[in-house]
Amino acid sequence: MNVPFLDLKVQFREIEHEVLPMVKEAMENAAFIGGPQVSGFEAEFAAFCESKHCVGVNSGTDALRFALLAAGVGPGDEVVTVPHTFIATTEAISQVGARPVFVDIDSRTYNMDPNKLEDFLTQRFNGSGTGNQEPGTRNQARPKAPKAVIPVHIYGQPADMESILEVAARRNLVVIEDACQAHGALYKGRKAGSLGLAGCFSFYPGKNLGAYGEGGAVVTQREDIADKIRMIRDHGQAKKYYHDLEGYNGRLDAIQAGVLRIKLKRLEDWNRARRQNAKYYDQLLSGIPGVTIPFQSEHATSVYHLYVILVDDRDGLQKYLNEKGIGTGLHYPVPLHLQKAYANQGYKEGEFPVTESVAKRLLSLPMFPELRKEQIEYVADCIKEFQTGLTG
Ligand SMILES: Cc1ncc(COP(=O)(O)O)c(C=O)c1O
Repeated sequence: MNVPFLDLKVQFREIEHEVLPMVKEAMENAAFIGGPQVSGFEAEFAAFCESKHCVGVNSGTDALRFALLAAGVGPGDEVVTVPHTFIATTEAISQVGARPVFVDIDSRTYNMDPNKLEDFLTQRFNGSGTGNQEPGTRNQARPKAPKAVIPVHIYGQPADMESILEVAARRNLVVIEDACQAHGALYKGRKAGSLGLAGCFSFYPGKNLGAYGEGGAVVTQREDIADKIRMIRDHGQAKKYYHDLEGYNGRLDAIQAGVLRIKLKRLEDWNRARRQNAKYYDQLLSGIPGVTIPFQSEHATSVYHLYVILVDDRDGLQKYLNEKGIGTGLHYPVPLHLQKAYANQGYKEGEFPVTESVAKRLLSLPMFPELRKEQIEYVADCIKEFQTGLTG
C-alpha cells in the first residue's frame, strides 16, 4: 500500500466542479487583482476567525511582516519567538529590521513555554541584558527592550495564549500570533488568530486552508491595524497613486481568493476529519513502545495541520516507512538557532534543550482529511513492526 504524506489531488476532485467555473469567470471578467472575490473572502474569513477585520496578502510571511510593520516594530527592536518553527517567522522579524530572540518550547505541546517567556523578559527588563543565553555576538548591542512576541501555534494546536498575553501585557509587548498552521483551531473556545493584536495565516497549498498558489491573511480586531496593512500590501496607497508610505506588492489575487472561498465552506468538515484521523492514530499508536503521540492540551482544540510523533531512532523509522511506501516529513529537523542563517548570532547547541531534543526525534506522519482508515492502520502497523523489531 502507498500512503502519501499529503494528497491534494483527492481534495481537488471534491471541489473541481466549483473551482473550474470560478477560474473561467475570473478570466472572462479579467478580474485578477482585488475585486469582489478578495473582499468577499476577507469578510468570510474574518467571520470564520471571529475577528472584525481580515486583510488578504500574498503569503504567510507577508502577513507576519506586515503585521509587525503595522504594530510599529522596526530597526533595533527585539521580537521574542521560538526556535521550533519554520524560518518564515524569524525572516519576517529580520525583514522589518528587528532582531529575533528565542525562548524554548513546552516539552508536551511544543509551543512557546510562557514560564520561559517570563524568565527571559525578567532578565531583559532587569537590565542583565543576556536573557537566558551565553554571551555572544547577539548580546553585544542590545539597544532596546523586546517590543513584540510571536507565539507559533505549531502543528495546529494553539499556544497557551492566556499566559502569553498576560506576561506580554505586563511588559507592554504586543502579541502577534503565527497562526499559519492553525486555521480554525480553538483556544478556550476562541479562534486562533483572534486573540493577539493580529493573527497571521498562510494559505500555502498544503495548509489546512490552502490556495492553488501563494496566499496569506492578517486578521485583527483593530481597524487602524487593518487599514495600515491594507496600505502596506498595496505600495503604501489608500488611494491610487497617492502613496502615504513605501509599501510592498503583497496583495492576495482574485483567483486564489476564489479558491479559498470554495474551500472555506468545507474547512470545518475537513478539520473535523483531521481530528478523527488523529484520534485513530492516537488509539493505534499509544500502545507501541518508544512512540510519543501528540499531546492535546485541555485548553486547545487542534486542527492537526501535522500529526507529529517522537521516536528515538527517527531516521531509522523514517527510512523504514519510506521503504514501505509511506511518506513522512520533518517539521523541523534543525532548530532555528542552529541554522547557518543565524550563525552570526552566536547561539550554541544546548541553549534551547527542549527544542533540540524534539527536533532530533520528531516525525510527521501522513495527515490530511481524506486519509483512509486502512491507510492509518497500515502506517500504525509499520511503526509497530519497526519499534518492536519485527521488521522483515
Ligand atoms: C509556522 C509558519 N509560519 C509562517 C509560514 C509562512 O507562510 P508562507 O509560506 O505562506 O509564507 C509558514 C508556512 O509555510 C508556517 O508554517
